[in-house]
Amino acid sequence: MPKKKEENLPPKLLRGMKDILPSNQKWWHWVREKVKNIGETYGFSRIDTPIMEETKLFVRSIGEETDIVEKEMYSFSKGSEKISLRPDGTAPIARAYVEHGMVNQSQPVKLYYLGPFFRHDRPQAGRYRQFWQFGFEVMGESHPILDAELILLAHSIYKEMGLDVNIQVNSIGCDSCREEYKRSLANYYRPRRSVLCENCKNRFSKNILRLLDCKQKECQEITKEAPQIIDHVCEECREHFVQVLEYLDDLEISYTLNPHLVRGLDYYTRTVFEIWMANEEGSSQSALGGGGRYNNLVESLGGRKTPAIGFASGIERLIIKLKENNIEPPRKEKPDIYVAQLGDKARKKCLKLFEYLRKKGLKVTESLSKNGLKSQLESADRKGVKFTLIMGHKEIMDSTVLIRDMESGIQEVVDYEKVYEEVKKRLEKRTPNLINGKK
Ligand code: HAM
Repeated sequence: MPKKKEENLPPKLLRGMKDILPSNQKWWHWVREKVKNIGETYGFSRIDTPIMEETKLFVRSIGEETDIVEKEMYSFSKGSEKISLRPDGTAPIARAYVEHGMVNQSQPVKLYYLGPFFRHDRPQAGRYRQFWQFGFEVMGESHPILDAELILLAHSIYKEMGLDVNIQVNSIGCDSCREEYKRSLANYYRPRRSVLCENCKNRFSKNILRLLDCKQKECQEITKEAPQIIDHVCEECREHFVQVLEYLDDLEISYTLNPHLVRGLDYYTRTVFEIWMANEEGSSQSALGGGGRYNNLVESLGGRKTPAIGFASGIERLIIKLKENNIEPPRKEKPDIYVAQLGDKARKKCLKLFEYLRKKGLKVTESLSKNGLKSQLESADRKGVKFTLIMGHKEIMDSTVLIRDMESGIQEVVDYEKVYEEVKKRLEKRTPNLINGKK
């Protein structure tokens, strides 16, 4: 058979992209609600930035020699504009902080976000080309208590959803002490360069810190003996880190000091951390989330010196872990009332009745496109409602509604005008104070 031409094949999902189907939405809904809830409790306000930005924003902030900027950005030109789909949320938020003069607001400015991000990486389980993140950024203050508070917040999200996580934490110092550390790393790796993997040989001159988190066995063996940054950070950076750890100890948050944690984005200073599953062999490649301080980013984008810290979590990875651990989202509340109809006139009237009851605050559902009472009652049963309101030709003529108690099967005729009061009365008898969601 002749091969079909590419353009004649039906369109398919792009590689590395995922549809979020209705059957999966309950997890997404749960995550969104959790993030919103925790965010508001900790005093964060929501921010949404566009999914596209000027390419130079990411080049300047994430770093020209990082994997993300070198290989993974979706970039294109439109007229004279050079545009990229956002690979990260921190850079756009720092840009927005500068552009909207948030420095003049009371500090720290605490922002959270949730949305899709894009990285053209090799797709595999838990790694996609469009993925979703939620994230939290605290801008404008440098106190170590904020580092601890953010780690606590991250920890709380996973814990409250039932996941046992461990925080990996390190300090990568500031611009000045890191330079000295990089020199001693170079001195250590230089004589061993020939046995490093190709990637690390390449990174040796471009981004030497990344040699520390290489996953290749031969490189890991060498890295075991490499100098540790914590022995090279300046006095202020050390003091900051010690305080962060003391706060974490006090909060009894389980963390692991990981001297090889460096993160793959260039804007970090001082505290860096990742969230890994406890009792699993983790790595930065499979982290649930990650973040850290970025005290120079806002300034590098044209703002004033603004210390900041943040973290972001991959939502797909979080949901994969919830499912692997058989953690189900809390059950959605069932509707109480089902509106059923027989015939076109009743169908029309039932749409109005449905809308009227919904606006009154009842949890009401329907299948108005269905024909036949039997199938509608079956559907009402499946949805687990307490009462079904039935309207047919006779009820239209008499201006009445039949209320069927789904438990006993008993049906009563009530006046159409009084249907809300009648239903409310019956619902209250069944579950006192249930109306309008008040329990
Ligand atoms: P990141 O470590 O690049 O940090 O990403 C954070 C999380 O996003 C990862 O831990 C992972 O769960 C998820 N993620 C990243 N790439 C992918 C992918 N290709 N597929 C699926 N999930 C992925 C940042 O993006 C920083 N902006 C975090 C931050 C906020 N730092 C300070 N503030």
